[in-house]
Amino acid sequence: MQYKTQLDERMEKPNVLVVDTVDRHILDALENYGAAVDYSPGISRDAILKVIGGYQVIVGRTRMPIDKGIIDAGEKLRIICRAGVGIENIDTEAAGERGIKVINVPGAATESVVELTVHLIIAGLRSTHPCVEDVKAGKFVKSLGSELAGKTVGIVGFGRIGTRISQVLKAFDAEVIVTDLKDYREKAGEIGVEFTDHRTLYRRSDIVCLHVNMEVNKVPVIGAAEVGMMKDGVMLINTARGKATEMKAVCEGLESGKIGFYGADVMWNEPPKDETEIRMLRMRNVAVTPHIGANTKEAQERIAKSLAEELVIALEGIKGV
Ligand SMILES: NC(=O)c1ccc[n+]([C@@H]2O[C@H](COP(=O)([O-])OP(=O)(O)OC[C@H]3O[C@@H](n4cnc5c(N)ncnc54)[C@H](O)[C@@H]3O)[C@@H](O)[C@H]2O)c1
Repeated sequence: MQYKTQLDERMEKPNVLVVDTVDRHILDALENYGAAVDYSPGISRDAILKVIGGYQVIVGRTRMPIDKGIIDAGEKLRIICRAGVGIENIDTEAAGERGIKVINVPGAATESVVELTVHLIIAGLRSTHPCVEDVKAGKFVKSLGSELAGKTVGIVGFGRIGTRISQVLKAFDAEVIVTDLKDYREKAGEIGVEFTDHRTLYRRSDIVCLHVNMEVNKVPVIGAAEVGMMKDGVMLINTARGKATEMKAVCEGLESGKIGFYGADVMWNEPPKDETEIRMLRMRNVAVTPHIGANTKEAQERIAKSLAEELVIALEGIKGV
């Protein structure tokens, strides 16, 4: 029988680099597991490149893309963990080539994103954002809004969030039509919404909501051609990813009046820095929140708990390999 020395045990401890702010649950789970955790939520890419060679695990959110450069420099890297939903800022191909496991927590933020999406829709229909600013500035001016009941809402991307928002919007008596790359006619039938093709959805919708995942899209889902198919004054809501719409097409649509309102929780650059997106932000019919879709106590706790479990399973999987 062989006995482990203290040194052996120390060498077995996985080294984990956390490059973004994460919930305490994740750090506790890692520490309880016996991992050596370096918590560096503000670390720069250059600094990561210098140190990543010594880590088996990297944990991040949306701030820092885990690109091929970081993956290549991480000679010992075995697990990349995204403390959230989307993994489009991780080079999954480069990770796959090296057999590095990528973990995320799809689904944990669905309810929170749905509620924020409803907020943005109502904000557009009732012009609440500029009204609030006006009242604060001493201008008590009433706007004339519109009801959600009776509006046709087109949901592009009928996955977790697209499905849940369809159910919620039906409760508002909106007519919900949906589309997806996958054939979800059966699921649509089950929840009582109409499954259609992209073109029909753009032509018929008063409000278009984007809930696509961008890993499968090489180009923006909404560009000038798609905007051109939409109703005049359409409301466009994007809580998916900034790059799901084409910046120039959205800006031109707003300037020409083709797009009546753009409500988003995501931008092309976060924080926005391009002249076009900054120009858009100044428009009264644009409302943008700073990527807070998943930022509720409940969602963060769900993300942290499921991720902590996933991480421990993944760490067990790489033990001694
Ligand atoms: N704002 C936030 O903080 C926040 C939080 C969580 C998720 N999200 C984003 O919301 C989006 C949806 O998340 P989800 O959990 O529902 O993902 P999901 O994978 O469950 O669903 C996405 C659906 O979009 C479909 N799709 C992809 N490209 C399409 C296209 N061009 N046309 C039609 N359908 C297309 C897919 O087939 C899939 O069914 C993702 O982009 C995700 O990153 C944002």
